[in-house]
Amino acid sequence: MSEKNIAIAIDGPAAAGKSTVAKKVAERLGFIYIDTGAMYRAVTLACIKKGLDPKDEAQAASLLPSLSIEFDEEGKTLLWGEDVSCYIRQPIVSGNVSYIAAMKPIRLALVEMQRKMADSKSVVMDGRDIGTYVLPNAEVKIFQIASVETRAVRRYEENLEKGIHTSLQEVEEDVRKRDYIDSHREFAPLKPASDSVLIDTSFLSIEESVEAVLKVVKDKTGVVPLC
Ligand code: DC
Repeated sequence: MSEKNIAIAIDGPAAAGKSTVAKKVAERLGFIYIDTGAMYRAVTLACIKKGLDPKDEAQAASLLPSLSIEFDEEGKTLLWGEDVSCYIRQPIVSGNVSYIAAMKPIRLALVEMQRKMADSKSVVMDGRDIGTYVLPNAEVKIFQIASVETRAVRRYEENLEKGIHTSLQEVEEDVRKRDYIDSHREFAPLKPASDSVLIDTSFLSIEESVEAVLKVVKDKTGVVPLC
């Protein structure tokens, strides 16, 4: 493998399977995986825990001076040192996270943390604005999509596995709402980077999606999986 750090940016809409694919790609390459959506979710949870309104920018931004979000070695999300990986997937967080993600002071603070995380290591980072804004010089940029219906069914099944009970219709509405807010916000909206490679996973299995990304990585950087 090359000595130089390599950044792989995987962007796309909610529930397109980015985190599942990104995690596996990172594992196969021996890179660090960074789930930036989990960071916006952790801020949303922090607001709720502290009784702050996640729709109010001044209230949410008041958290920033004391905010601590980290990932442990297993990729668990730590908020002020506590593992909140499960809590950040609850519907109350999913339903409010887009408001938090649209706030400029919050984005600037999280982007700074994300850039630091990618500074000295090879990473696979997934989110909405990684290729366009967080890591514009990333060696590999993927824009991963799937139809709304496919994404809703995937998120619904994922929720059931985690013991979160929501109807399929509720999940589909949440996916549509987040697509709209994520792609219409003023600051760093969801859109493909001009130099990104589009991968539609609507009819691909997880393994096929992983292989598709690894092929782009090999073509662009010459880096091949460790296993
Ligand atoms: O990928 P996810 O569903 O966990 O993301 C949660 C929310 O955070 C989603 O509504 C969009 C937002 N987000 C963002 O604006 N920028 C990122 N880099 C990652 C996520």
